[in-house]
Amino acid sequence: KLPSTIAPSLLAWYDRHARDLPWRSPPGNAPGDAYRVWLSEVMLQQTQVATVKPYFDAFTRRWPDFAALAGAQDADVMAAWAGLGYYARARNMLACARAVVWEHGGKLPDSEAGLRALPGIGDYTAAAIAAIAFERRAVVVDANVERVVARLAALQTPLPRGKAEVRALADQVTPDARAGDFAQAMMDLGATICIARRPQCMLCPLSADCRACATGEPEAYPRREAK
Ligand code: ADE
Repeated sequence: KLPSTIAPSLLAWYDRHARDLPWRSPPGNAPGDAYRVWLSEVMLQQTQVATVKPYFDAFTRRWPDFAALAGAQDADVMAAWAGLGYYARARNMLACARAVVWEHGGKLPDSEAGLRALPGIGDYTAAAIAAIAFERRAVVVDANVERVVARLAALQTPLPRGKAEVRALADQVTPDARAGDFAQAMMDLGATICIARRPQCMLCPLSADCRACATGEPEAYPRREAK
């Protein structure tokens, strides 16, 4: 059982230290535009934040909403995507924009199930968009969040076998309010402080609640299945 202070401590940290990213609204504010949240999550699926930023800016300048992207020429979109890799993602992205415009009246569904039914949106992306764009409580677990949660609990089960346990623990710490901020706070903590090598526990807002930190060997978590 993880302490109930985790969400409030993390959100207070996020209020001061959130990364300023072009698809975000500042902490504590209404969600950012759903189109921008969706586009960023699709681009971030296999690509790092620093690489995504200029592509995100170029795409949103050229195609500022679902209607504009749905009406684009395939070849123009593929050319603008060049460098992001995984071109199936670009095809799915375009198919998704067209489904939103032609089958959903130009608006993204606001539930995880509705989102998951669209091209290019899997479990993780559906949860992230539901939380970040629509303030729905959703359990958002990417590789960074997995590491944070495994450390908080000093989870002994190695990954990937422990994935279900990680999910249950993430569910336990996810608050009902500020779903989007909480999800992005976990991502930021994992990307900047609770990093894989040499985590910066001295700077971590959750160090007092973290069992891995207490062992003095936080890097030993998450445990990994022997290859
Ligand atoms: N990686 C995936 N989604 C992200 C987000 N919204 N903010 C930061 N990193 C992310």
